[in-house]
Amino acid sequence: MNHITVLTVIGARPQFVKAAVVSRALANEGIKEQIIHTGQHYDALMSATFFDELNIPQPAVNLDAGSGNHGKQTARMLENIENYVLNQSSKPTALMVYGDTNSTIAGALAATKLHIPVIHVEAGLRSFNRKMPEEINRVLTDHVSELLFCSSDEGVQNLAKEGITDGVHPVGDVMYDAIKTFTPIALNQDRPPSLPGKFVLLTLHRPANTDDHSKLQSLLDTLGSLPISTFWPVHPRVKQTLEQLNISPNIILSEPLAYFDMLYSLHSAELVLTDSGGLQKEAYWMQKKCITLRDETEWVETLEGNWNQLTGLHPQKITDAWHKEPETSWKPLYGDGKASEKIAGIIRDYFS
Ligand code: UD1
Repeated sequence: MNHITVLTVIGARPQFVKAAVVSRALANEGIKEQIIHTGQHYDALMSATFFDELNIPQPAVNLDAGSGNHGKQTARMLENIENYVLNQSSKPTALMVYGDTNSTIAGALAATKLHIPVIHVEAGLRSFNRKMPEEINRVLTDHVSELLFCSSDEGVQNLAKEGITDGVHPVGDVMYDAIKTFTPIALNQDRPPSLPGKFVLLTLHRPANTDDHSKLQSLLDTLGSLPISTFWPVHPRVKQTLEQLNISPNIILSEPLAYFDMLYSLHSAELVLTDSGGLQKEAYWMQKKCITLRDETEWVETLEGNWNQLTGLHPQKITDAWHKEPETSWKPLYGDGKASEKIAGIIRDYFS
């Protein structure tokens, strides 16, 4: 029918979830897709599990970029993506990236220097904190992108303030598509055996939170003293520091969770504490109160009515947020769960 070929660059756990729904939508439009896995996340529980569970097409190549300092990690990906594209018999129509990780900026830079149009899913988000590597990644990616898909009008406005108005489409959030598609399947499975009866769900992976052991210890002390268990699937980065911390028996540790187990846990949790971007939205969609262990968020809409509260790692702020319940009735945010279909349709029309 048409000859649109999209080269998708993904490498970190949340990008696999987003790609799962967009890949299906591209296929439904007859758009050919090839996936490059940068190898940023490489442990089976951070990567292979997601491809298997969510039926994501196998990557054409894994670049094995692995871990390392930001410059080194990003440079390895950049060089390897460029090599991969140059070694193909034809150029793709466009290269698609998601979110704000080092894989995102590496894909966007490689493509733009080869004059391949860049498609950015989750464009226009801003924390206005330039110390976050993710903020640099998303600002730079937006500025080299030709099609920019925003989760909400806030993203559109942020882009307009930076002079980006062409190719901008508010389509909603593809993670909402994923949650709508996969929650019924996840809840139909057995309850993850490690889940306590009643619990709060904790995730933490930002270096700003995990690299300072005394701050992390004080958070764990606060959580350990609560009258309810904390369930904490631990990111590999943090695992290495756990031996140096005192963990109350009230805090139940787990390996990183597969996506369905994470959806099950979210659904069963009393509330969520996190420094993740994606989990703030997922908590909202599951109609759970969220305490965000950061001082700012890109997902400002979730703050309305105290559904999401920003506390950083301050024990008093966490305790205050704990006692404050949402003040408004829940309403849908970030689209209608059909963002991936819209994205595929716009790509088809734009490149046909
Ligand atoms: C990355 C993204 C972050 C995103 C997160 C999603 C950047 C700058 N950060 O953070 O925006 O929210 O992914 O999960 O791109 N590690 C392993 N096994 C793995 C992967 C990582 O052991 O499979 C350990 C390594 O010690 C590594 C550390 O985790 O150095 C950090 O990994 P990295 O990919 O650099 O960043 P994340 O913290 O995962």
